[in-house]
Amino acid sequence: MSKDIIILGIESSCDDTSAAILKNNKVLSNVIANQDIHTKYGGVVPELASRAHQKNIIPVVNEALLLAKINKSEIDAIAYTKGPGLMGSLLVGGSFAKGFALGINKPLISVNHMQGHILSHFISNNLYKPPTFPFLCLTVSGGHTQIVLVKNYLDMEVIGQTIDDAAGEAFDKSAKVLGLDYPGGPLIDKFSKNGNIHAFKFAKPKIRDLDFSFSGLKTSIMNLINNEKNKNNNFINENLEDLCASIQYSIVNILIEKVKLASLHTGIKNIAIAGGVSANSYLREQLLLLKEFNMYIPKFEYCTDNAAMIAMAGYYKYINKDFGNFNETSTPRLKF
Ligand code: KG4
Ligand code: ZN
Repeated sequence: MSKDIIILGIESSCDDTSAAILKNNKVLSNVIANQDIHTKYGGVVPELASRAHQKNIIPVVNEALLLAKINKSEIDAIAYTKGPGLMGSLLVGGSFAKGFALGINKPLISVNHMQGHILSHFISNNLYKPPTFPFLCLTVSGGHTQIVLVKNYLDMEVIGQTIDDAAGEAFDKSAKVLGLDYPGGPLIDKFSKNGNIHAFKFAKPKIRDLDFSFSGLKTSIMNLINNEKNKNNNFINENLEDLCASIQYSIVNILIEKVKLASLHTGIKNIAIAGGVSANSYLREQLLLLKEFNMYIPKFEYCTDNAAMIAMAGYYKYINKDFGNFNETSTPRLKF
């Protein structure tokens, strides 16, 4: 029997500081420190995010080791998010990972955050089965919206992406116009539950092929709300649930139409979703209704940023002996 592989994963690309320990594909611990500081600013403030990472990183790693009941000497490699993300935030996790790897004399593994989101599907769990290759992954987060052709664990190709805002940004910016806190996606999801999806109509983007655009939708939402507010100051309060449901319906429809088109173009019927927006209940529900696809929905806790997915990607890179080096730097616009 082959030896178990213990990976420490470190994630710090945006506003969550996370550390996880995986034994092969099993999560022994996955600790996440969220940063509430950004709520009142309506979005992530990069400088505040880096400072919070700096404060959180050591306690989070210590707790991950403690919960996993793993001694530092048992770790086989340290996997960290190299990019994409906010430079200051990435640097905290990256520098910590390098120092830690040097300290315990173990290899360093650099991970692309978006690949981590996709590979979160392979974390062992008793709810969902992992996708079979090849599959298409709709990767939707606060900073990215992509359709990825996944040929193997580490062989992926972006076949479509947003030309402006990401889907998560569309949720967050709409929420801000509605006066909701950051991150707005989960709140829009919550308020939509009792709303009418057809109450308000917004502009549909006309983007060819597999690319996305959300900026026109954002303008259309802002225009409608501002016009109606001029007539009735209490418009948002009186229509919050219907507004949320209509906005969510518009964003989810854009995503689903492109997934269908991508399947048509490639002939691939195995479809997965990943990233923060894949936590959206309406997106999950609507995709599961599409019986022509084999749908793979990630476990809720691995949708938003977490280090377990980084350690999972680290595990496959470890098997491939695809190690990082200590001279590489964090890369905010890292591509696959
Ligand atoms: O993947 P993630 O945690 O961080 C990035 O890599 O960006 O994604 C965060 C994004 C935010 O825009 C947040 O509003 C969105 O995911 N999000 C949701 C939901 N939960 C998180 N959007 C819609 N519905 C949700 N339930
Ligand atoms: Zn993410």
